Amino acid sequence: MKEFHLKALRCPSCRRSLRLSEVHLDGDEIESGKVVCEKRHSWLVDEGIPALVYPRASAKDETWIKQYDSMAENYDDLLKSYDEWLGIDMMKERERLGNYVTIEGPSKIADVSMGTGANFAALYGRFRQEMGRFDFHGLDMSHGMLRIARRKFKDLGITVGLVQGNVFNLPYQDDYFNLVIHSGGINTFSDKSRALEEMLRVVKPWGIVVVTDEGLSPDVRRTDRGKEILKTNSLFGSRPPLEHVPPMARHLEVAYVMGGTFYQMVFSK
Ligand SMILES: C[S@@+](CC[C@H](N)C(=O)[O-])C[C@H]1O[C@@H](n2cnc3c(N)ncnc32)[C@H](O)[C@@H]1O
Ligand SMILES: [Zn+2]
Repeated sequence: MKEFHLKALRCPSCRRSLRLSEVHLDGDEIESGKVVCEKRHSWLVDEGIPALVYPRASAKDETWIKQYDSMAENYDDLLKSYDEWLGIDMMKERERLGNYVTIEGPSKIADVSMGTGANFAALYGRFRQEMGRFDFHGLDMSHGMLRIARRKFKDLGITVGLVQGNVFNLPYQDDYFNLVIHSGGINTFSDKSRALEEMLRVVKPWGIVVVTDEGLSPDVRRTDRGKEILKTNSLFGSRPPLEHVPPMARHLEVAYVMGGTFYQMVFSK
C-alpha cells in the first residue's frame, strides 16, 4: 500500500481516520508496520496489507475463509477451468464491468472480496491507456488470496490499495467510491443484507454497486446444459438475492452475464 491509500480507510472499530505508525518502506510502498486511529486502535500491516478485520468472521464464514486461503495458489487455474466447462471467456466477460466506470475523470473503485484480483486485471485489460485516473482498492478476508492478487498487480504494474477486512464491516469511509464491485461471494455470505448495506454505504451518492454471483438465468435453467451445470455445482441454482438489497438502493436492475450462468444486480445510491 501507499500512504495515499489511507484516505479511503477508517478504523473498523471506532470508524475514525487512520494514520501510519512504525512503518517500514520499500520506496514509497509501505511493507510492514502499523496503522492507528485517534483512539489508539492499532492494526498490523504485513506484506503491504493492513489487517483491518473487525469483527472476526463467524464460524461459518471462517470455514469458507480457510478454504479460500488453502486454494489461493490454485484459484486462477480453477477459474480457468470454469471457462471450458461453462463455455465462456470469464476474463473477457469481466471487462464488461468497464461499462459502469465513469467515462472520464478520476474514478475511485473498490473490489470487495476481490479474491486474486481478476476484476482489476480485467479493467486493466480495457483501460490500460488511462490507468492514471483510477484509484483502485481491493479487500478480502483471506490473506492468501490478497497475497496472490498483490503479486498479479505487481506483474501488471497496477497500483491497488489492498486491505484484509470483513465485508460485513468494511474499513472504508462513507460515500467514498464511484463504483463498488463484488463478484462471487454473496451466495455463501451468512448476512447478505449487511454485506450489501456496507457496499452501498461506501459508494458515493449516484455511485454504482455491481454484484455478480453464480446463478443460472431462467432460460439456461431449462436447458440440458443448465441441468448438467446444476447437477455438478448446486451454487448455480442460486437466485439473485433481491430481498436483501437495501431499501434505500435506487435503480435496481438484474441481468444475466457469463452466458446466462451468473446473475448480476446493479444498483445506485
Ligand atoms: C468465490 S471467491 C471470489 C473472488 C473474486 N471476487 C472473483 O470474482 O474471482 C470469494 C471471495 O470472498 C472472500 N470472502 C469470503 N467471506 C468474506 C468476508 N466475510 N469478508 C471479506 N471477504 C470474504 C473469500 O476469501 C474469497 O476470496
Ligand atoms: Zn479506532
